Amino acid sequence: MGWYDGLLLMKALVVLTGSMLVLSAAAVERRRVPAMYVFGDSTLDVGNNNHLQGKQVPRANKPYYGIDLPGSGKPTGRFSNGYNVADFVAKHLGFEKSPLAYLVLKARNYLIPSAITRGVSYASAGAGILDSTVRNAGGNLPLSQQVRLFAATRAAMEAKVGARAVAELLSRSFFLVGVGSNDFFAFATAQAKGNSTAVGVGTQSDVVAAFYGSLVSNYAAAITELYKLGARKFGIINVGPVGCVPAVRVLNATGGCADAMNQLAAAFDGFLDSLLAGLAARLPGLAYSVADSFGFAARTDPLALGFVSQDSACCGGGSLGAEKDCLPGAQLCADRDRFLFWDRVHPSQRAAMLSAQAYYDGPKEFTAPISFKQLADKIVIK
Ligand SMILES: *[C@@H]1O[C@H](CO)[C@@H](O)[C@H](O)[C@H]1NC(C)=O
Ligand SMILES: *[C@@H]1O[C@H](CO)[C@@H](O)[C@H](O)[C@H]1NC(C)=O
Repeated sequence: MGWYDGLLLMKALVVLTGSMLVLSAAAVERRRVPAMYVFGDSTLDVGNNNHLQGKQVPRANKPYYGIDLPGSGKPTGRFSNGYNVADFVAKHLGFEKSPLAYLVLKARNYLIPSAITRGVSYASAGAGILDSTVRNAGGNLPLSQQVRLFAATRAAMEAKVGARAVAELLSRSFFLVGVGSNDFFAFATAQAKGNSTAVGVGTQSDVVAAFYGSLVSNYAAAITELYKLGARKFGIINVGPVGCVPAVRVLNATGGCADAMNQLAAAFDGFLDSLLAGLAARLPGLAYSVADSFGFAARTDPLALGFVSQDSACCGGGSLGAEKDCLPGAQLCADRDRFLFWDRVHPSQRAAMLSAQAYYDGPKEFTAPISFKQLADKIVIK
């Protein structure tokens, strides 16, 4: 624990009138970063969508979501049988789990205390890099809105503890971002409706080029805005093989992955690497690690990791368990740790645990240019 942590914590304790905040010094000391702020989609959501209005909002608020969470075994809004990738990254960084969801903290009137002492999660299931993706995914907080909510949070943090303390805190904190899959699902759906050939071989087409253009400019705008607000350490999870989730596989008569969708995602990941390298060259002090979610899925053998199923949902129904949502009464696999996928779209807790481990401190090939651990430990300039 650096001298500054102590100072900030004392300040926070004074501000928060003691009783609201019970933090043992030991808990603080194990942390590699003072706080963590999370932006993204259902792979990272820890409950924001439960507080959004609307019938179409995707919510993991029913059994059997959360069945393997310690203690309760109850749904929390995580799209998993247990913890998700944000939780496991947080655990590696020395936290108990992901910071709480922004809308949960708001409802409990505890947003600023959490923002100052451990962080906030703005991740929202269905969210995309593009605002337009919201239409295809019910209701959610798109990436741009998540960033605006963070800006408002930061202003309130400054009002509490002052601009200098907030700048110091944010510059040393971990900003986890994982978003993009929903944009590819929405794009593929739109293309399939309007034009069945476009997704197949159209990677050079104007439509696809325009899609990439918007994705990259929106992503750049989000990272740049977070940087302006004081973020310096970005742990970014790229887009995985979206064509291999059970919900997409089941559309293929052979049950195989949708190769064209995967190619689209892989090409975007290439643009993302260039984008971040470009931003790091322009924005002094910006440090980042790209977690290669695509490469991890493509180049690790699920069988070797102890999975017996890599194509089917543990919780669901019908072919590949992918024709039904994971809702009360759904079929449940016998051993949830042996399934790569929990539901028709999302990884199981064990799959999330293994990928977070790879991003944090795993083989060099799964992060670039540095690992999440190296990013956390990096000294950056404000
Ligand atoms: C379908 O998409 C392809 C590739 O984007 C394009 O060249 C073609 O003109 C489109 N066809 C129709 C009927 O829109
Ligand atoms: C369906 O899966 C097979 C592999 O089993 C693959 O070769 C094929 O390209 C897939 N079809 C589509 C449309 O992606």
